[in-house]
Parts: sequence; structure tokens; C-alpha cells
Amino acid sequence: MKLWAGRFHKELDDKVNDFNSSISFDSRMFREDITGSMAHAAMLAKQGIVSEEDGRRIRDGLAGILADIDEGRLEIDRSAEDIHTFIEGELTARIGDAGKRLHTGRSRNDQVALDLRLHLKNLAAPLREQLLSLVRVLAEKALENADVIMPGYTHLQRAQPITFGHHLMAYAEMLTRDVGRLDDAVKRMDVSPLGSGALASTTYPLDRDFAAVQLGMSGVTHNSLDGVADRDYAVELAAVLSLVMVHLSRFSEEIILWCSWEFKFIELDDAFSTGSSIMPQKKNPDIAELVRGKSGRVFGDLMGLLTVLKGLPLAYNKDMQEDKEAIFDAFDTVRMCLTAFVPMIETMKPLPENMRRAAAGGFINATDCADYLVGKGLPFRDAYKATGELVARCIDQGLTLETLPLQDYRQVCPLFDEGVFEAIALERCAALRRVYGGPAPENVRAQAERVLKLVKEAEK
Ligand code: ARG
Repeated sequence: MKLWAGRFHKELDDKVNDFNSSISFDSRMFREDITGSMAHAAMLAKQGIVSEEDGRRIRDGLAGILADIDEGRLEIDRSAEDIHTFIEGELTARIGDAGKRLHTGRSRNDQVALDLRLHLKNLAAPLREQLLSLVRVLAEKALENADVIMPGYTHLQRAQPITFGHHLMAYAEMLTRDVGRLDDAVKRMDVSPLGSGALASTTYPLDRDFAAVQLGMSGVTHNSLDGVADRDYAVELAAVLSLVMVHLSRFSEEIILWCSWEFKFIELDDAFSTGSSIMPQKKNPDIAELVRGKSGRVFGDLMGLLTVLKGLPLAYNKDMQEDKEAIFDAFDTVRMCLTAFVPMIETMKPLPENMRRAAAGGFINATDCADYLVGKGLPFRDAYKATGELVARCIDQGLTLETLPLQDYRQVCPLFDEGVFEAIALERCAALRRVYGGPAPENVRAQAERVLKLVKEAEK
């Protein structure tokens, strides 16, 4: 029997019942639904809208239901319309008339809006911890690898010398911003829509602030139509999660490249790699590939949410029931990705010799060679041209700037002397890039320490 059965002459068709029902995916909000109802009941009693006695009965009844679900004594009925209906029905079955008074001055529209806000807040907290732990792992790895020379790339062509620690810290920066975005979205979401009713609030003298305080929320929504129709917070969170996936996916792409024999900059731990069913030699970076692949789902969730909302007139429309699977999937996916990704990064082994070898092979000190001539008084454009000629000579003779004889240098430009070899030594080229934000080992250490401190603060 439906909650709203009074007005109808027939039961809902079975096929439609399953189509209409959301319990298969909203049952996970049972805790928030119960917490929300407890706050509502406490408020109703405080305002004298229900008796103290009924208020107490409702709260005790709800507490019993929560304990029974938690301890596996009560199974959620999959044929119920949604979690709100199920819990209210169960409460009424347990405590009778008092249970029927719970929904006074409330609609499922403000109820579901509240439940979703509370549930997403509860999902955001552990995700934030996972992000912070990834940032911490990156900063720690950066400290260990502050001196490791590697080629930095543009266009996937070796470009200039950097340090591996610097490269890792670039991701720490992205993920730190993601934590900030998450905090921001949660802060905006953390207000109670309870009291918005179905759309037009209610004539009962509700104390909305009281209910919000009970729920540990920072305030209340200001417009009842917006209170029930707003899902911006789900979109914002999906956008934050999408950006997290962009970052993890870019990182994954690099991990995959670095694991290949073409690069071999890192070795993933066996526990975070997989083999092939036919090729005995294979060790595949499946986790990184899956993370890269799963980014698509999360972007899809964001697009789905945007599309559901874009044509909806105010206030509540059933289309909005589609919000949950999308945003839950986005959270679940990112959580799963991070659960595998963080220890994969933590256990990966950098191979500094291979990085150094790659760094030696791509003329990545050419800019430093040109800068050397600038130091001798040559304008940069002329120095750039002279160095280009040197690189061409190296390519012709199968040499590097380090192994090209001084004689060739002096033929191209008489300003060169022995000192050039010191000037183009890769370690020096990296160490001298100590402009704020640059890859010099001392900078990497300072940035890693700064970020580690930030993580500690954020974890408080
Ligand atoms: N299951 C619904 C949802 O997820 C709850 C709200 C139902 N309200 C309504 N008027 N049908 O959106």
C-alpha cells in the first residue's frame, strides 16, 4: 500500500512500481533519513506541534530502527517506493499513531533534499582524507627524489632538465586545489532545506534553525522553491570529482608511459601490477589504466546531472530522482580509484639512472648552453641560433652537447671556452633553476615541506 494511496482507486502497476521506485539506490541514505527525521521530530515537539510524548516515541522508534538496520536485524524492503517511505512505514508499524505524526509540516521533497545533502557531506569527509593522504605521499616521495634529475617534457619531447620530486609536486599542487574545491562545495551545501515542505513551506510554526543546529548544519536555505529544487551541490561535487579524475587520469597516463620499456622511469610494485594470460614477460599497469578509463564514468555522471536539471521548471520534479545514481557513482568511483591509486604511488620505485640517461639524451641543456653565451655578452637570439647549430652538429656526429669537442663549439662561436661543460652539466642546470616554483632540489624540498604542513593543518 502506498503512502499516498487515499486518492487512488487502484494499486500502482507492478511494472511501473519498479520503474518509479528509488529504493535500490536511495536505501544507502537510511542513516541520514533517520537522523533528519529525528531532528524534525525534536523540532515538532519543541514547537508544540506534536506532544513531548509523541516526540520522544518517534525518536526512540527511529533510534530502534537505526540500530536494527545497523545490526542486521531489519532488512530494507526492496519493494518499498523509497527509503523515506520505508522508514516512515516501519516506524508507524512499530509505534502506531505517533509514527503517523512524524511527517507533519514536511514533504518528501524537502526530506530527500536534506537526506542527499547530509549523505553527500558524509561521503565527502572520507574522500577528503584520501585526497590528503595522496598529497602527503606525493610530498614525501618528492622529498626522497628532490635531487633525481629527469627530463621535463613539452609535446612529449624532452625539453629542459627538472627533478623527479618537482614533477611529483606538480600533482600535489593539483590535488591540493581539489581539496580546497571540495571544502568549498561542502561548505555551500551544508544548509538545511527542511521546512521548505513540498515547495511552499508550511503553515506550521516550524523552527528551521533549531532543526539545522540539531543536524550540525551551518544554516538554512532561504527560499522554499529553491530549497526543494536545488541540486547545484550535486553538480558542484560532480565537477570537483571530475577534476580529481582529470588529475588522476593525467598522472595515470604518465605512470603508464613511465612503466614502458621505452621510458622505464619507474617500476610498479608487483602487488599493484598484473600479468598477461599469454605473454609471460608482461607486467601491466592495469590500475593506472583503469583509473584513466574510469574518469569517463565520472564525467558522464556530471553531464547526466547537468542534463537532468537543465529543463526543469520549479520546483520538485520526479526527474530529480535521477540525481542520486549519478552523484553516488561519481563518489564511489573516485573513492575506489584512490583506494588503489594511493598505495600504488606509495610503493612505486623510481629508477633514477634511467631518468638520468634519458635526460642526457635529448639536448635538454641547450637552453643552458645558450644562456652561457648570454653570460658572455651575446644577445639571447644570437645565442639561441649558435646553440641550434651545435645541436645540429651533435646530431650529425651522433654526439651530445657534453661530448662535442670544444673545437666545434669555438667554430660555431669564439666566445665558448672550457667553462661551457660545467655550464651545461645537468645537475647544475637543475640546481640553478631556483626561481620560486622552479625544479631546483632546494625548492622541491621547501615546497614539499610546505605542502606537508598544509596537509597536517587540513587533517585537523
Ligand atoms: N524518491 C524521490 C527522489 O529521490 C523522493 C521524493 C519524492 N517526492 C515526490 N514528490 N515524489 O527524488
